[in-house]
Amino acid sequence: MRKISIGLFAALALVAFGAQADQASAQKLADKYAAIAKNIDPASKGLSADDGKAFFNRELTIRGKQIACASCHTTNPADHGKHAVTGKKIEPLAPAANAKRFSNIDKVEKNFEKHCLDIIGRDCTAQEKGNFIAYLLTVK
Ligand code: HEC
Repeated sequence: MRKISIGLFAALALVAFGAQADQASAQKLADKYAAIAKNIDPASKGLSADDGKAFFNRELTIRGKQIACASCHTTNPADHGKHAVTGKKIEPLAPAANAKRFSNIDKVEKNFEKHCLDIIGRDCTAQEKGNFIAYLLTVK
């Protein structure tokens, strides 16, 4: 019993350590977007996880269909998503649940550009991207 609990503790410690490392890179990226947003608009008051959450769940009508970021990524970003059109499984977006998220700026920019264009008809602003990541960082 004792051996098992020590093993479990070690595994949990590893998971906690790994999660911290991922969240650090997502946080760095969020900080970068915050700095850009401030450059564009000196009135920017920093990132808002609440605005990011509203943005994530806001439904827009696209070709007669109600669609939000949450339509594919689900309302819980720590959960697996499901593509609204193809039904394909999507790995969780929240860095706490998925180590690879927001670690590769090229991939992040490519996905933001594509999905923002699909959903809101233009690329998202630095403020919107930063808010979005700030929200995902609050999801454990
Ligand atoms: C039609 C389905 C769909 C919708 C709607 C959608 N996404 Fe995605 N999203 C995906 C898929 C598919 C991937 C890529 C597969 C993967 O990386 O697991 C992805 C990945 C991403 C990533 C990549 C993150 C990383 O570091 O890997 C970001 C950022 C993202 N989406 C943001 C958004 C935002 C913001 C919205 C709303 C404006 C949105 N998505 C709406 C399907 C969707």
